[in-house]
Amino acid sequence: MQSVIVALALTGAGALRTPMTMSTAVKHVTTKSDAIMKEAATLMPGGVSSPVRAFKSVGGGPVVFEKVKGAYAYDVDGNQYVDYVGTWGPAICGHANDEVNEALRAALEKGTSFGAPSENENVLAKMVCDAVPSVEMVRFTNSGTEACMGMLRLVRAYTGREKIIKFEGCYHGHADGFLVQAGSGVATLGLPDSPGVPPGATQGTLVAEYNNLESVEALLKEHECAAVVLEPVVGNSGFIPPTQEFLEGLRAMTTKYGALLVFDEVMTGFRIDYGCAQKHFGVTPDVTTMGKVIGGGLPVGAYGGRRDIMEQVAPAGPMYQAGTLSGNPLAMTAGIKTLEILSRPGQYEKLTKLTERLVEGILREGKAAGHAISGGSISGMFGFFFCEGPVTCFREATASDTDKFARWHRGMLERGVYLAPSQYEAGFMSLAHTEADVDKTIAAAKEVFATI
Ligand SMILES: Cc1ncc(COP(=O)(O)O)c(C=O)c1O
Repeated sequence: MQSVIVALALTGAGALRTPMTMSTAVKHVTTKSDAIMKEAATLMPGGVSSPVRAFKSVGGGPVVFEKVKGAYAYDVDGNQYVDYVGTWGPAICGHANDEVNEALRAALEKGTSFGAPSENENVLAKMVCDAVPSVEMVRFTNSGTEACMGMLRLVRAYTGREKIIKFEGCYHGHADGFLVQAGSGVATLGLPDSPGVPPGATQGTLVAEYNNLESVEALLKEHECAAVVLEPVVGNSGFIPPTQEFLEGLRAMTTKYGALLVFDEVMTGFRIDYGCAQKHFGVTPDVTTMGKVIGGGLPVGAYGGRRDIMEQVAPAGPMYQAGTLSGNPLAMTAGIKTLEILSRPGQYEKLTKLTERLVEGILREGKAAGHAISGGSISGMFGFFFCEGPVTCFREATASDTDKFARWHRGMLERGVYLAPSQYEAGFMSLAHTEADVDKTIAAAKEVFATI
């Protein structure tokens, strides 16, 4: 694709194009990206490994990254972007953070995989247990999907019950049992449930509506359920916050009906607050899944909870789950340093302030240009919908104008702002972003709103 745009300035021969110098018109050239993606499509399904799944829906292939640093991503054609995807959440300290890199370099010298216990597992486990109210013990995995798979087996093993309740539009990784009304990737591509998932695998999965306690109680009354599983703040249908009443109601209801309450904090864990969303809302689940931020950019997932529940997990207990690379020393190192940085005073306040500035600015400019637009943020997680809002559940999210979103996304990309390529994804701020980045983004948004 060769998109004409007015917002990029070349600063010298071979220099990176710096976005959003409004006076200088150049083209957003993606020739190398396009060539690499063309070849990639012959080698890998859709040409991708990580979830850049939704780019088709915004009218083009993904740009191919060459490097990332701080708040910025650089593509192979030399375009620079202010990045609000942050590798889908993990890059909360900014990409390739110097302190994390330094710790990784030292760890690298000691070996990349042990396949045996290491002290750093204790260190990260202790940090997680100290920070997250519901977690007394934790099991590390390699991804959020693996954490959710382990959690699913655990809640069934602990309760001796099979059924679970999830919510429309919530995503819990790609395990068979969760691929029912699973939000972002599936929703954006308009897929029903995935082929290849046997009906037996989803028979135990019941689906309720987010922020709707009656829909949950009706299911709990009718079925003996092992657990109610949710994103405590939804990021996989776009950004949808819970009401306090909803979370507190789920806590009371699950206790009443003998089901476990599970917060899938793969996205919200250490992003919303150092104690995760459960600390922010003051509602403590029985089991928590994590990922993304706790790996600081390396592959880590985790599930944890009360000691009596976690002691079901092998080899302490009978519920089997293991992984060759789980607790990998490099991944533990990146996680430890990332949490250490996040634990310093003022970090979440900084994320909150910057993110609110961004969201307020975009909503202001969008409304001034006459668009129906709604959105919000908590800490460094945010999102917008092209509809009046407020959006409280997935059904309402699907009422937004996805064609307009596609035009908005392309306009922003062409002006050097990298946003998630789907109406049904959240955005992420990092500690490396500055007020200047945010203000440039708002200025770009103003231009784009005038054209869509
Ligand atoms: C809430 C939630 N759970 C689970 C997952 C799956 O994690 P992963 O992509 O690391 O497998 C994701 C991924 O985006 C997620 O947002």
